[in-house]
This record gives sequence, structure tokens and C-alpha cells, in this order.
Amino acid sequence: MSTSRRGFLKGILGTGAAGAAATALPGCAPDIDPAPVTDVSASDVGVVDLLVSRYPDLEREGGAITVRVDGETTPLLVTHTGGSEYSVLSALCTHAACPLGFDGREVVCPCHLSKFNPVDGAVTQRPATVGLRKFTSRFNTGTQVLTIDLRAGEGGFPSAVDGEVRLPFAQFPKLKDNGSVVEGVPGGYGKRIFVFRLQDGSLSAVDSVCTHNFCEVSSRPEQLDLICYCHDSTFSAQGEVTARPATRPLKKFTVTETADAVVVSNVR
Ligand code: FES
Ligand code: FES
Repeated sequence: MSTSRRGFLKGILGTGAAGAAATALPGCAPDIDPAPVTDVSASDVGVVDLLVSRYPDLEREGGAITVRVDGETTPLLVTHTGGSEYSVLSALCTHAACPLGFDGREVVCPCHLSKFNPVDGAVTQRPATVGLRKFTSRFNTGTQVLTIDLRAGEGGFPSAVDGEVRLPFAQFPKLKDNGSVVEGVPGGYGKRIFVFRLQDGSLSAVDSVCTHNFCEVSSRPEQLDLICYCHDSTFSAQGEVTARPATRPLKKFTVTETADAVVVSNVR
């Protein structure tokens, strides 16, 4: 592996994870590098504007860059899929958190050659089994600015208003059932949250950012817990670590209920 690629991995992943990625690389004979990195800042409301002409690796069709946003845990893979079409996905592979590249047609992981659809982040080749998180973006053909909204929510899921997400029982009847979980991305927050109704009837709400290396955790409704497929850390419904390598709990939210809704607070 070249010195520059090792340096890249250290820069984006930190020394420990870079070492793991580095040992995986030679045997796989990867023919693609992670997309080059650029550092940017977001506005107060979580919007990033990229003037595409400033980034030659993004300006050309089939090109891509990795964008690290000041204060954000998840690096972004921004790809130019053709014409005025761009897409923005998480830049960390869901198999073992290696930084991703783009071969002009598919998103490719140099570590073990998982592949993903650049438009929706779906897995097209294993070993990864979980798709990449997709971010909302729009390209202005007049100004040539690509705008990325880091706080956009998921359609059909309530937004955070003053840090509060209100989940009406009429819309989320599962939240009345013991042993259930509801999940979604609130607008204004931009990250997935999980709300559990535990077997004893109590409620718990936690964030989706894995505390090991910032992959997105997934819920396991049968076990009523959470797993990070990047390195198989697991967490209880209350966010406590139940299997390493993660050592710190997930971010927890305050959760209460009224006669007609569950209310999650401090979602900011
Ligand atoms: S880290 Fe293994 S395929 Fe990406
Ligand atoms: S990122 Fe490593 S276990 Fe989650």
C-alpha cells in the first residue's frame, strides 16, 4: 500500500482503524483509492454549499470527493454521477468502516471490495449487507453550487421542533405495544433515532451514531436492541454497550408520554 493511502486512512479513520484497513488492503489487490478529502464548514442550520468548480475531482463526471464537515462525525462521499447529477452518501463502508471510493459507476470499498449504488446507497456487492446512509442534496445549474442539507429528515417522520420530536399514537400505534421499536430521521436533526417501548412498558430513545467509529447502528426488533454492523458492537435499548469494540453508550434522549403521543426531547 502506498504511503499516501496509508496517510489518507489515518487522516480519516484514526490510527487504529487505519491499521485494520491497511492490513486488509494488500490481499484484496484493490484497484480503487478512497475519494480525496476536503474539509469544509456547515452553516448554523447544517447546510454545506460546495462550488463544484473548486473541486476538480468532483467537477469531472464520474469523479468524487470525501467531505469532512467541521463538528460532524460522519464524512460524506460526494459523487458526480453524470451531467448535473450528484449524490451524497456516508463515506464509511458499512462492513468495517473503511473510507469509500467511486469508480465512475459504483461506490467501491478498497478494503474488501463491497460495492454500493451511488444514487441510493444500496449494497450491490457483498460482504457489506447494509446500505449507505443517503443525504439530501440539490445542484443549482446556474450557480454551479451543490447544497447538502445535513439536517434533512425522513418523509413521514416528525421533525424536531425546539429539540422536541412528537410521535402521535395515531401515527405510530406500535408505540403502545410493549416490546416494540419505532425509528426514523427527524428533520432539523438529520440523524436516525430509535424509540423503544420495553417489555415492562417503559420508554427509551437513543441516537444511531455508533460510539466506536461513527457508523450508523441498526435495530434488531426481535432482540429489542441495536447492532453496528461495521464491527458488530451491540447496544441495549437503553443505549448501553452489550458487546465491544464500542466502549461508550449511545447518546440518550429524554422521553415522556402524554395521553396521545410519545415525546422525545433534547434532539439536537
Ligand atoms: S470494510 Fe470490508 S468491504 Fe468495506
Ligand atoms: S463503528 Fe465499529 S462497532 Fe460501530
